[in-house]
Amino acid sequence: MKNYFIVGGSSGIGKALSHMLAGAGQQVYATYCNNPVQEEDESISYHFLDVEDKNTALDYLPKQLDGFVYCPGSINLAPFARIKPEDFASDFQLQVLGAITLLQTILPKLKAADQASIVFFSTVAVQTGFNYHTQVAASKGAIEGLTRSLAAELAPHIRVNAIAPSITETALATKLLNSEEKRKANAQRHPLRRIGNTEDIAAMAAFLLSEKASWMTGQIITIDGGISSLKI
Ligand SMILES: NC(=O)c1ccc[n+]([C@@H]2O[C@H](COP(=O)([O-])OP(=O)(O)OC[C@H]3O[C@@H](n4cnc5c(N)ncnc54)[C@H](OP(=O)(O)O)[C@@H]3O)[C@@H](O)[C@H]2O)c1
Repeated sequence: MKNYFIVGGSSGIGKALSHMLAGAGQQVYATYCNNPVQEEDESISYHFLDVEDKNTALDYLPKQLDGFVYCPGSINLAPFARIKPEDFASDFQLQVLGAITLLQTILPKLKAADQASIVFFSTVAVQTGFNYHTQVAASKGAIEGLTRSLAAELAPHIRVNAIAPSITETALATKLLNSEEKRKANAQRHPLRRIGNTEDIAAMAAFLLSEKASWMTGQIITIDGGISSLKI
């Protein structure tokens, strides 16, 4: 049985991943922030964690961790001229510095495992330019740089990869999917004619955590219904 630490395991992709791993018999340490998790699952131990709070105790974690996944993110879309510098800074705090601070704290636990795996989340909007995505792309671009640099520094014992999804049905995407019209329009923009679901993305994260991906590191895996690479 492996130990996995999923930051942001109470919603969306992180929640689906936590259940996938627990269902495969792994021990999952998952965190929530604003939405306490009600359900009971013996293989998932849920803990409060706000990455904005520097004093958070992580004393529930075991000495050894086989995997770390950082899910907190935001999708704030607006014309560039209207975004304040402090909005860019707060996105960077949540999406990048939060991940860095936690990783620096738990790195000894990952180093204690024979082979460990880290998974970060980027977005399709880093490698492909979309209107009104500067705020999210700036932070997630940093995540992609962090992924490759860390992968080099932590090889060969710790692998580091990131997943870059297009729009996926989660609480985070609610504003973009809160009417039938928006859902249809978003589905139509993708060559595979649907929006992503949490399992589409969580399955890749589970794979990257597993030994099946033991020769993969420093990669950004795009899962996007074909939107970044196909014209049909
Ligand atoms: N959904 C999409 O369309 C999409 C597209 C591209 C990229 N992504 C990326 O994929 C990742 C997962 O997204 P998702 O859609 O699954 O998000 P989500 O449903 O909003 O889940 C985010 C998770 O992070 C936790 N969280 C939020 N703020 C936090 C904070 N300050 N401290 C600690 N935990 C915090 C949330 O906890 P609570 O709910 O308990 O507050 C929740 O468990 C994100 O990095 C996102 O940028 C998503």
